[in-house]
Amino acid sequence: MINVGIIGFGTVGCGTIRILLNNNDLIKSRTGADVTLKKIADLDIQKDRGIVIPNGVLTTNVNEILDDPDIDIVVELIGGIHPAKEFILKALQNGKHVVTANKALLATEGQELFQAAGKAGRALGFEAAVAGGIPIIKTLREGLASNHYQSIYGIINGTSNYILTKMTDEGKDFKDALSDAQSLGYAEANPAFDIEGIDTAHKLTLIASLCYGIPLSFNKIYVEGITKITAQDVQFATELGYKIKLLAIARQVGKEIELRVHPTMVPVDHLISNVNGVFNAIRVIGDAVGETLYYGRGAGDMPTGSAVVSDIIDIATGKANTSNNQIGASTNNGYTIRDINDIESLYYFRFTAMDSPGVLSRISGVLGENGISISAVIQKGRKAGGSVPLVVLTHNARERDVMRAVNQIDSLPVVSKPTMFIRVEGGD
Ligand code: HSE
Repeated sequence: MINVGIIGFGTVGCGTIRILLNNNDLIKSRTGADVTLKKIADLDIQKDRGIVIPNGVLTTNVNEILDDPDIDIVVELIGGIHPAKEFILKALQNGKHVVTANKALLATEGQELFQAAGKAGRALGFEAAVAGGIPIIKTLREGLASNHYQSIYGIINGTSNYILTKMTDEGKDFKDALSDAQSLGYAEANPAFDIEGIDTAHKLTLIASLCYGIPLSFNKIYVEGITKITAQDVQFATELGYKIKLLAIARQVGKEIELRVHPTMVPVDHLISNVNGVFNAIRVIGDAVGETLYYGRGAGDMPTGSAVVSDIIDIATGKANTSNNQIGASTNNGYTIRDINDIESLYYFRFTAMDSPGVLSRISGVLGENGISISAVIQKGRKAGGSVPLVVLTHNARERDVMRAVNQIDSLPVVSKPTMFIRVEGGD
């Protein structure tokens, strides 16, 4: 029998506890894992969460879990860096396996934590830290283990996808859509993590380390959130046959790895662009398997709880990885992280320019001088003597050239506001 102690009786804690209490017989008969929920620690054990907890299980004293020699697995679900990090280190030192959903902690301090787990010979499970209920960590670590990963990209933040979906389908404004997401329990305690792309980058950090055997490289990821996306951009994207999605992208180009998070225009006929609401999807291309796609709920109590319990089951049945494969590797395995200025992409520009003769040729002239070729132009409305949006789509261009061109264009007297640009995926 395996005893589990859970620290944190919040959203994911509730889902995990419900699954452990309600599906216990199923888990045992299907996997052989005989799991007992021995303790739940939280600062607030009075609040009614609508779950009947057996007597003696709740405590406000976390040490009743960390110091209990009968507890085999400590599940950390409080989030944040401190004291979650100290709890995990203490649990490992005390010989316990650890399961966590804490992507922020693992992405930023994971080097030390994975090393501590390796040294202790204990598992540090984190399936729930990436893409909620989708078993993407198990897939990348085991199912596709024989592949070189050419690219892994997708939507791995439910809150920003929910917001973009509401903006696209219902014309909602950004703030209303964000507060809906928060009230549904999807958003991080600090919603800036969701809308500024940070949560996505935390998850991409874990994926990249696992797939390429590189150290956890959160600080090397290029990150741009969705806060600058306007209703107008969403409309132009629709008109051009695209949806705007916040994508996490890891792509191998020779010995370089592109690691980036930014709003991206994805063609409407792409499967990824039809991933809506809180759903996540990850497209993985391996040299042997080819293209694969994983889809499911990326946030919420029960989906994330499902991922937490999958780690508990692996540990209980002796299948968990106690050497943690290559996650948090100490060397770069021959790879370097590609400078964002070196990437190549298609681009969408929305210039705010004077509505007068010759303006389009001035702008397209600067693009041409910088080696950027135009594939489509839209100009709507008429405001003689005023400013109008001028939308341009490009062929493949290099980021460095694009940045130089945008700077030059923004300093033209006929351009009245900073240019909005969005990278466009053409598919690979
Ligand atoms: N805030 C996260 C999201 C929760 O919206 O996806 C799951 O990690």
